[in-house]
Amino acid sequence: MNILAVESSCDETAVAIVKDGREVLTDCIASQVDLHRIYGGVVPEIASRMHIEAIYGLADQALEKTGLSREDIDAVAVTYAPGLIGAVLVGVNFAKSVALALDKPLIPVHHIRGHIAANYIAYPDLKPPFLCLVVSGGHTVIVDVQDYTKMEILGTTLDDAAGECFDKVGRVLGMPYPGGAALDKAASQGDDTKYQLPRSKPGQNPYDMSFSGLKTAAINLIHHAQQVGEELDINSLCASFCGAVSDTLVPRVVMAMEQTGYRKLAVAGGVAANSRIRRDIQAAAARLGAEVYLPPLSLCGDNAAMIGSQGYFELLAGNTSDMTLNAYATKSILGETL
Ligand code: KG4
Ligand code: ZN
Repeated sequence: MNILAVESSCDETAVAIVKDGREVLTDCIASQVDLHRIYGGVVPEIASRMHIEAIYGLADQALEKTGLSREDIDAVAVTYAPGLIGAVLVGVNFAKSVALALDKPLIPVHHIRGHIAANYIAYPDLKPPFLCLVVSGGHTVIVDVQDYTKMEILGTTLDDAAGECFDKVGRVLGMPYPGGAALDKAASQGDDTKYQLPRSKPGQNPYDMSFSGLKTAAINLIHHAQQVGEELDINSLCASFCGAVSDTLVPRVVMAMEQTGYRKLAVAGGVAANSRIRRDIQAAAARLGAEVYLPPLSLCGDNAAMIGSQGYFELLAGNTSDMTLNAYATKSILGETL
């Protein structure tokens, strides 16, 4: 079963071909990051326009690289939510045209479900149930993955996503967009105990998180230092910041592992590339005696292979759509409109 998968929810246009949900035949990505960098963040209209220019060429490239013909494609999967609406619309409309032209099933895939599925590619033997921490630029959720298409959110950020915080703090530090990777690199040279940054306290739902207080505290600290002419130890500030993000995430994940009794812990999303978080998750899993699943960096960020993987399992579950499929800026992982 060859699935042609399309991803265009933010600033990467991607088309992949995935066989039977686990084998990536090709994953073609056109990143727009360099274009958005000059503005310090993603400009939605530019993103939509770049997607529309790049998407056909990427699909052509995917067929060419695999040597497959259009007739070898069995279904078309596409990110239909959540994301920048103009950007998601481009992918959805393209996927609809392809599915119609080839007369093959059209499979809508939730972007966060796709991130989780990156683990099925990286770990061919991984099967639900397991717990997954999804940390990306737009989402921070602890998910109880009961089955490939049956999941429950145990906790979520109540304000900013972890990645958004990395990017905002990186920007104030003068790092290129998106700041996460640069901040991570700087942190490796720093002392994580040098700056005291807040950790959000558990609220009504102990699995929920908050990052806006941490973001504001870090930005205030930087501005204050600039105002009084104090030289900051940037590497240590980055290390302290990564420590505070990890301390917000990991204890909640540990609690969720204890509550579910799962012995498998997976991580997904762009921020799952963070070295401190990876290290702390690995250590926590070892303490819990749990198996840990950390996708390679290439599968943490946005890509279409993960959409092709999840698309396969959605198809097996009968979750296809007709030609009225729409795109959504927000939608819960359970498919509810928010
Ligand atoms: O999953 P993703 O590619 O896009 C969304 O679905 O949002 O995540 C992008 C986010 C950005 O905020 C980026 O700064 C962050 O992932 N990121 C990192 C690292 N690499 C990427 N954050 C922390 N440490 C990293 N090494
Ligand atoms: Zn993403």
